[in-house]
Amino acid sequence: MSMRLDKFLSVTKTASRSEAGKAAKHGKICVNGKVVTDCSAHIDPDTDVISFDGRDVVYRRFIWIMMNKPAGVLSASNDKKEKTVVDLLPPPLNSMELFPCGRLDKDTVGLIMITNDGDLAHKLLSPKYHAEKEYAFTLERPYNTAKRIENGMMMDGKMTKPAKIVMEDELHGKITLTEGKYHQIKRMFEYADSKVTFLKRLTFGGIALDEALAPGQWRYLTKQEEEILRQN
Ligand code: URA
Repeated sequence: MSMRLDKFLSVTKTASRSEAGKAAKHGKICVNGKVVTDCSAHIDPDTDVISFDGRDVVYRRFIWIMMNKPAGVLSASNDKKEKTVVDLLPPPLNSMELFPCGRLDKDTVGLIMITNDGDLAHKLLSPKYHAEKEYAFTLERPYNTAKRIENGMMMDGKMTKPAKIVMEDELHGKITLTEGKYHQIKRMFEYADSKVTFLKRLTFGGIALDEALAPGQWRYLTKQEEEILRQN
């Protein structure tokens, strides 16, 4: 894969394109140990060693981002009318063919992963791998526990997998699923004679939402977090 040097520096959050231009003029950028003064030069991030101001720039082939999704945005890459989670990322990330790993409803908030790693995302979303997702929820009225929704119920012609529900009080609780059918949690509680009025995803595949992230904020996953995802 080949990419412009200034794009590489901006993608790796090393320098903006204009900062990269200035640094290059001052001889601060090296490719494989040789000073490069033209930022439009093409490099191969997989094989070339780039240094900026004396430090090697670490390139991540795959980008994994966690975002605290705010209410009112779609978990999609782009949409003609509505704002998406990818639209909330700054350039150049918002034009790098990233996509959300899984879906949350427009009004659901909390942890959403955004990536360009199609293979791992596919694996994590596959029902075969049972990646766990924990959500906090609020109900409009107490649900009918006699319906035993945690044991599984018919949905789209199939039984749902067992879920874990832990209530804090009659209206607030946490639910852990290992699958993600359309509106699954809302439909489960509707079947149990209640209604979800608030839903927030707290974990995904062993990674917890960083509570330091305000709604709409994001950060890269750490290498350790990426490893945890790969172990799912
Ligand atoms: N279940 C739902 O009903 N909605 C979500 O966004 C996620 C799980």
